[in-house]
Amino acid sequence: MARIEAEILSRRQDQTPAAERPAALFLPRKPIPNIGLERIDGQRFYSPEFMALEWEKIWTKTWQIGVRESDLPEVGSFQIHELGKESFIFVRGEDESIRGFYNVCQHRGNRLCTVEYGQMKAFTCPFHGWQWNIDGSLKKVADPQFFRQFAQGIPEAELGLTPLNTARWGGWVWFNMNPAAIPLREYLGELGSHLESYDFSDYQLIDYQTFEWGGNWKHAVDAFNESYHFQALHPDMVEFGEGHDIPIELVGIHSRMLNFGGTVSEVLAERDRMTPLRVRMMENRLGVRNEQYQGSASDVHHEVLRYKRAMQNDTYLPYRKMNDEQLAHQYHYTFFPAATFTQKPEAGNVFRYRPHATDPNRCYYDFFILVRNPPGTPLPEYEHRVHKHGASPVYAKALEGTFDPILSNVLQQDGSNMETMQEGVKSDSFKGMILCDQEVRLRHFHQTIDRFISGEYSVDAGARNRAPTSGLIQSVPT
Ligand code: FES
Ligand SMILES: [Fe+2]
Repeated sequence: MARIEAEILSRRQDQTPAAERPAALFLPRKPIPNIGLERIDGQRFYSPEFMALEWEKIWTKTWQIGVRESDLPEVGSFQIHELGKESFIFVRGEDESIRGFYNVCQHRGNRLCTVEYGQMKAFTCPFHGWQWNIDGSLKKVADPQFFRQFAQGIPEAELGLTPLNTARWGGWVWFNMNPAAIPLREYLGELGSHLESYDFSDYQLIDYQTFEWGGNWKHAVDAFNESYHFQALHPDMVEFGEGHDIPIELVGIHSRMLNFGGTVSEVLAERDRMTPLRVRMMENRLGVRNEQYQGSASDVHHEVLRYKRAMQNDTYLPYRKMNDEQLAHQYHYTFFPAATFTQKPEAGNVFRYRPHATDPNRCYYDFFILVRNPPGTPLPEYEHRVHKHGASPVYAKALEGTFDPILSNVLQQDGSNMETMQEGVKSDSFKGMILCDQEVRLRHFHQTIDRFISGEYSVDAGARNRAPTSGLIQSVPT
């Protein structure tokens, strides 16, 4: 047990208010479930055959984050989103519904819309000028008299844009290429209800950037779903947070972990002194002024909790609805396969992982910053930026104005292993990954992938072999 955990439990005075929709507490923690010890093979990260199976059994069957609802403010507002070989149009209709369609012209298959976002009354294919209404119905065939197929009339139903299964949750429009999938809310399961305490619809998107990385998408998921790497890879972070030996839960096909904030990691010998870095992070990230804080650097989270509880009835922030862990620490939730919410009451980062269309050696890491903007305060404008592979994005520059340079550097460190992991796991000498208990989310993730691929799991509404989306996994006999 991490030192901070014993200390939190001993100080907990059951002052957590009766939250309206609380997230389940992590502490006291449940044991890490035993789901096996087998090595994870390297081939799954570079094999084109494995990539094709993932496409067939996972990407086209599970729920993914598409676009932010607020990015489609008006009738006709649209945004394009790409996943693998597919491109989709999300558009707000006259009836205010947001619909999704495959971005494919029904004439000869051209990409219909080549602009990333905007507002349209109709979509016109640039090749021969066929048109579709924003509800996906066919508006015009150019020169229909040339088509003998249409001699008896244009088959409008057949020629509509191909619709996509969509649903809204958390201010996001999600999509599923499988029309027979279980509803999104059921898919998100118990962990979805935990996160509803944040009222995500009230968060505003202030930045969206895409990093193309030279590694398989699963290396990117794995890179963020354990904190075992903090001490070696992020030496700064252990100065103001604890990721060493943290609570982890596997819930159905999803998972979560808790990184402790406002403390100093037990991997450091000196945990009391308020060094300049510790002061900076306390002031900038947690809003506690150094002049008002006399305690130990490892106890800052108590001060955070104290002032947030003191103001909880007098703020636009959702403190009242949250348990103490949510107020002082950082929730990290991943919905299978590719949506991560790292969450605090004031702000959050969403990570979305996407495979490359054809190359298992590349992926896209989409990085979103959302905040609860104080009412009446103007929101910063943002432009979606894409950092191409090999362009060596300078993260400090990419996140200037939104992230402290210390945290931009953390992201740079996380991205730095993508290519080297991709190269290393291809080696004939590589025997497979050995994962420790602090990496159990990775083991669970890869096992879940295997279960979808083998057909053991399905999220089709009518399937008998339905994947669990709720329920704490305690142990799986191996
Ligand atoms: S390919 Fe689109 S109108 Fe011909
Ligand atoms: Fe990291």
